[in-house]
Amino acid sequence: MWDYWERHLDPDLHVDRSLSGRVKGKTVLITGASSGIGLATAIRVAGSGGHVIMVARDPEKLEEARKTVEKHGGKASAYTADLASLESCDELVAKVLAEQGAPDVLVNNAGRSIRRSISLSYDRFHDFERTMQLNYFGSLRLIMGFLPKMTERRSGHIINISSIGVLSNAPRFSAYVASKAALDAFSRCAAAEFSDANVSFTVINMPLVRTPMIGPTKMYDSVPTLTPEEAAEMVADAIIRRPQRIATRLGVFAEVMHLLAPKMHEVVMNTAYQLFPDSAAAKGQKGGSDAPTSSEQVAFAALMRGIHW
Ligand SMILES: NC(=O)c1ccc[n+]([C@@H]2O[C@H](COP(=O)([O-])OP(=O)(O)OC[C@H]3O[C@@H](n4cnc5c(N)ncnc54)[C@H](OP(=O)(O)O)[C@@H]3O)[C@@H](O)[C@H]2O)c1
Repeated sequence: MWDYWERHLDPDLHVDRSLSGRVKGKTVLITGASSGIGLATAIRVAGSGGHVIMVARDPEKLEEARKTVEKHGGKASAYTADLASLESCDELVAKVLAEQGAPDVLVNNAGRSIRRSISLSYDRFHDFERTMQLNYFGSLRLIMGFLPKMTERRSGHIINISSIGVLSNAPRFSAYVASKAALDAFSRCAAAEFSDANVSFTVINMPLVRTPMIGPTKMYDSVPTLTPEEAAEMVADAIIRRPQRIATRLGVFAEVMHLLAPKMHEVVMNTAYQLFPDSAAAKGQKGGSDAPTSSEQVAFAALMRGIHW
């Protein structure tokens, strides 16, 4: 009887566990959708039958990206907004609600990264403000804008693209990691509040991905990274399974190591801090060039695949 139930009667049998099963005929709003992870995700979602609402600042780049997405066989709409401005976030929310309704899935992907030692940041408080403004407050403003309709409708999924740096406590990324950590913490609290309203929150602690964002750090040319398509697969997995968190094995290992042996973790991270210097740009040397990547750096980065140094 059990076997019969499993093969014929289990209600889970009829749930479509593909991306298309989740997004067909649904709207997925992706911020930062004109490049990198956001664009690859837009292509993946639209190709699976979803209607992608693409958001970024540069209208020409965004329109080009929208056309690329539609070429892959899907529906895409473009909205320009500067998510570092709360007014622009509010305008975007109002426009999307009026023209499309609340999205079924919101992917907070647009972000700003800064790689600079704290000792070089004493007079650069704006680094900390700018990362918070876009990575935390911009994402939060959109969440707050769409949550009322999602809860009223009793369905919604918010995916926040975070970083492996939050799990590894990456040196030189204090401004960036702190802003992403704020978003992670908000998501965990919100997940508990909205669970019974069928609104899910997922954090993805993304490892290094080869996109224009990491382009300025020349050292990353020689370290292993994910492709944007592999990163988009992590977002697709989030849309399908709606877990609270998606992280790589190394990310989870780094977090566990930090919890169990914080001093040992600190020593390992300090070794990395000494091994990978600040870039000439981070030091404020205009036109300065970075030292060539050493074999020690390549070996260390290969061992700690995907962690930002
Ligand atoms: N690449 C990595 O190694 C890596 C690792 C971990 C986490 N992440 C996270 O993944 C996300 C995507 O990164 P990516 O590497 O794909 O970056 P990317 O290729 O540089 O793309 C960034 C996107 O965000 C948009 N954007 C930037 N500032 C914006 C603003 N103020 N308002 C609206 N849109 C804005 C950009 O378009 P416009 O410039 O036209 O606005 C672009 O579409 C970020 O949150 C990043 O922190 C990346």
